[in-house]
Amino acid sequence: MNFIQNILQGIPPELPEPKPYDPSVSHAPKRKDILTQEEKKLALHNALRYFKPEWHEVLAPEFAKELKEYGRIYMYRFRPNYKMYARPIEEYPAKTKQAAAIMLMIQNNLDYAIAQHPQELITYGGNGAVFQNWAQYLLTMQYLATMTEEQTLVLYSGHPLGLFPSHKDAPRVVITNGMVIPNYSKPDDWERFNALGVSQYGQMTAGSYMYIGPQGIVHGTTITVLNASRMLQGEIAGKLFITSGLGGMSGAQPKAGNIAGLVSVTAEVNSSATHKRHEQGWVDEVHHDLDMLFAKVKEAQAKKTARSFAYSGNIVDLWEYCVKNKIHVDLGSDQTSLHNPWAGGYYPVGYSFEESNRMMAEEPEKFRATVQESLRRHVDAVNKLTAKGMYFFDYGNAFLLESSRAGANILKPDGKFKYQSYVQDIMGPMCFDYGFGPFRWVCTSGKPEDLDTTDKIAMEVLQKISENSPKEISRQMQDNITWIKGAKENKLVVGSQARILYADAEGRIKIATAFNQAIKEGKISAPVVLGRDHHDVSGTDSPFRETSNIYDGSSFTADMAIHNVIGDSFRGATWVSIHNGGGVGWGEVINGGFGMLLDGTEDADRRVKSMLFWDVNNGISRRAWARNNEAIFAIKRAMNENPNLKVTLPNFADKKLVDSVFM
Ligand SMILES: NC(=O)c1ccc[n+]([C@@H]2O[C@H](COP(=O)([O-])OP(=O)(O)OC[C@H]3O[C@@H](n4cnc5c(N)ncnc54)[C@H](O)[C@@H]3O)[C@@H](O)[C@H]2O)c1
Repeated sequence: MNFIQNILQGIPPELPEPKPYDPSVSHAPKRKDILTQEEKKLALHNALRYFKPEWHEVLAPEFAKELKEYGRIYMYRFRPNYKMYARPIEEYPAKTKQAAAIMLMIQNNLDYAIAQHPQELITYGGNGAVFQNWAQYLLTMQYLATMTEEQTLVLYSGHPLGLFPSHKDAPRVVITNGMVIPNYSKPDDWERFNALGVSQYGQMTAGSYMYIGPQGIVHGTTITVLNASRMLQGEIAGKLFITSGLGGMSGAQPKAGNIAGLVSVTAEVNSSATHKRHEQGWVDEVHHDLDMLFAKVKEAQAKKTARSFAYSGNIVDLWEYCVKNKIHVDLGSDQTSLHNPWAGGYYPVGYSFEESNRMMAEEPEKFRATVQESLRRHVDAVNKLTAKGMYFFDYGNAFLLESSRAGANILKPDGKFKYQSYVQDIMGPMCFDYGFGPFRWVCTSGKPEDLDTTDKIAMEVLQKISENSPKEISRQMQDNITWIKGAKENKLVVGSQARILYADAEGRIKIATAFNQAIKEGKISAPVVLGRDHHDVSGTDSPFRETSNIYDGSSFTADMAIHNVIGDSFRGATWVSIHNGGGVGWGEVINGGFGMLLDGTEDADRRVKSMLFWDVNNGISRRAWARNNEAIFAIKRAMNENPNLKVTLPNFADKKLVDSVFM
């Protein structure tokens, strides 16, 4: 049976053979045993409803075993036999190119070269799921293959509720992930709902099919690391950056360190993650011995050559080594998955990787205590190094939050965190408030030459815009032009032919319309998918990350993310998604995003102008209302350019006056 027939059949008519556990790929850690006996029965009923009753006798014990052994029912038996990767768009069976593009993006998110735990349908971040189980995948692909432009597919946390009549300007797919009643949004609620098979953690770009491998984050990480290093005194070459994590997003750090011209050391406890990044060329050298590692680090620093090292071990051991050996560290951060601290996001010091995995499933309370103890040691070492001049920033992974919850010495006397997040210091005021964010595109032909053409077009557009851009954003423009010029050379593509580029509303719209024109003229051989990370100016309400530089008290509201997605959906997005969780953790953030297909038509041109303008400017407006000066500047510019835009602007009260009222 060929690929097309496989897709069209959905759940196969004959029960497939069971699939043996495949030790050659990285697997999700065993999830904790959270369900009661009655709830386990419910989970089984929930799983079996995807299949005809004749199969239940075989599947019931098998799924119960999966639940016992892995804490989830993945339905491994139904994993397709074909290779998982983004095929050229014309290879997908579909009645509309829009649906075919979504299928391509789903398969890209599950590509073994890209996904963190592909057989558990996890793309990144330890728990960032595309679907909860393989039945959902099979049904969704079948729906996409058969739907028309008069239908919309509705997805509840990976579960395809069905196709509903709509119209050609409506999104083809509307996705919600992890949306729960707010009082039931604690980490254990996720464990329970996910084990029951009724909800999932979609992260940001996992459950919205917009993940493009670590490239997606290399650019943002480069901007962050580059600007963090610009805050240091003296020249950047030879400066030392220490951090952790070589996983889905964190794996971009060594590459970004090299691009920024730094010497970097990244600790990683999972040897298969380290191996993957080394093999892909994202990190230059791997070391197990700290003395040998630092001999090499010193050599690179002396030569002032940009070089990236992986330390195969625990970040706490690395920090404590630096303290003990009085090593001067210039920049420090952390990218363990602390948004998910009890289920494999953070590995405590003093325990092997295997022992930690066992403990988190079998002795969750003990594991929790060891993680918290490790965090206290972690912070103590970081504090000692910052006292000696290291600049440390939180990398949006809930490091500060979880350390404070662990009772680590991370708070100032006024109760605020000792360190700033990268959004507070860097990304917020420099990028998000001006509308710069992680715009991205995928060439659906799969051809590198199409990507080259898009790179060239994007560069020309940016160069032209930068001729007249105001000084407030000239550095951002320049950094982005430098990035796109070097993008090909930096070999950033893993999986689909994709590119990321930080751009503001003007840049995004002009680049997108230029692509659409080039598709129309045949200069680009097939449609292009546009999208972005949710980690952006407007898609995400996240008080400890994207909106951590909102200081009017509204950072705990989620109106912006909801409006963003609703607005995108009626302005022409091809698909939209809204998620609870993502980045900093379940219950900590609401984030939304979109995908849009450019096919060279007038319709695409109309949609892209309307949707991108809203997609960026709604976030700037909210940031402006929060009294962020950079955003006020940006939204006034936008209003000048578009008289139909009328935004409520804030007045500033005199601080002395307000203080005096409460004297
Ligand atoms: N890169 C970015 O721009 C960015 C932005 C915002 C947030 N984040 C956050 O960064 C975190 C990492 O994201 P990811 O996709 O790479 O997750 P991931 O789970 O794929 O990778 C994290 C890695 O950290 C390793 N690790 C855990 N504990 C460790 C320890 N004590 N010592 C050494 N290594 C350890 C894990 O083995 C894993 O490989 C997430 O919380 C994410 O939300 C990243």
